[in-house]
Amino acid sequence: MDLFEYQAKQLFRKFGVPVSLGEVATTPDEAQAVAEKLGGVTVVKAQVKIGGRGKAGGVKVAKTPADARANAEQILGMDIKGHTVHRVLVDPGADIKEEYYVSYLLDRSNRTFLAMASYEGGMEIEQLAVERPEALAKVAVDAVEGVDLDKATEIARAAKFPDDLVAPVADVLVKLWDTFVGTDATLVEVNPLARVGDGSVVALDGKVTLDDNADFRQPENADFVDVQAADPLEQKAKEKHLNYVKLDGEVGIIGNGAGLVMSTLDVVAYAGEKHGGVRPANFLDIGGGASAEVMANGLDVILNDPSVRSVFVNVFGGITSCDAVANGIVTALGMLGDSATKPLVVRLDGNNVDEGRRILTEAAHPLVTLADTMDEAADKAAQLANAGV
Ligand SMILES: Nc1ncnc2c1ncn2[C@@H]1O[C@H](COP(=O)(O)OP(=O)(O)OP(=O)(O)O)[C@@H](O)[C@H]1O
Ligand SMILES: [Mg+2]
Repeated sequence: MDLFEYQAKQLFRKFGVPVSLGEVATTPDEAQAVAEKLGGVTVVKAQVKIGGRGKAGGVKVAKTPADARANAEQILGMDIKGHTVHRVLVDPGADIKEEYYVSYLLDRSNRTFLAMASYEGGMEIEQLAVERPEALAKVAVDAVEGVDLDKATEIARAAKFPDDLVAPVADVLVKLWDTFVGTDATLVEVNPLARVGDGSVVALDGKVTLDDNADFRQPENADFVDVQAADPLEQKAKEKHLNYVKLDGEVGIIGNGAGLVMSTLDVVAYAGEKHGGVRPANFLDIGGGASAEVMANGLDVILNDPSVRSVFVNVFGGITSCDAVANGIVTALGMLGDSATKPLVVRLDGNNVDEGRRILTEAAHPLVTLADTMDEAADKAAQLANAGV
């Protein structure tokens, strides 16, 4: 999960990284009130999970609270690379002398962590990495040893910080490492880390990506979820522990195994070309040992998607045999009762397929059509979706 700047800075503050952090506002009035409270010059910053906000006009200095109000008026509702601004951070204005870059990330290709730092901040780091790679230090960090003061000093020196800055920057690097490890992040980035008027070093921006796999031991990370942005169906699926991704088509998809579901999406998209251009409405993998309850939960999510016109259930019986899946479908439709209204095309293959087909044929549910092959099922589902549009 990517965090907003203000959330990243909240974590930085918790771990002792010096930050410039004001308050969030969702209306121009609120922005003015925060600016009044902070006093002096402020900076109004769009809170969207994408870089380059400054260049897009999403970061504006305000000399007075009235300016902060006007800035917020301009920035709220703005579209930055497809992200709508719903809130702004009103930050104390910093008297910037210099801008630097520091980050830690997971270096998957080398199976380690990586510190990146540069004394030459201020320009886009991607550009710096290409044009002047020697100015961007990359130092591997051992997962067990981590970053102590010695290691942090090594990173600061590699990044060519002048002698008088090595100690304050190393101090920030140690605390930033504590943030990285303490929150189970896969990325923490400060761009810019700035030297300000009083000579101190402060994080003026913050980017953090948390590892969702660690949610079980980071229960407080749930507070960072952006409920406003979350799709309600994805939310519901998450609560039921389903591997669900909403897409923008009309054919609901349920399958067992991520690979099978991925190829089902392809086959349906292809079949849809002949049927009015209908496309898959979602990805849903109910996994290997899917019970009737999991099938019911999956159908429940998909049938509640208003854009779904038909559903393709594509199951290859393995550990869970086709008869168990067939019983699951029948039970699920029974559990859903009248709320199930959209046609289902079911393709079963694999372990105990004959018994599975027999169960569905016998149940003779009016919404269910059996298909023999994946192509045939995709074609039928696409045709039904097109007819239902
Ligand atoms: N509190 C502040 N006081 C003064 N200037 C600021 C402050 N915050 C940001 N700035 C200035 O605005 C610039 C852009 O801000 P920031 O880096 O937060 O947003 P950004 O452009 O989205 O960056 P990125 O692309 O790294 O996400 C900074 O480089 C800095 O010069
Ligand atoms: Mg930045």
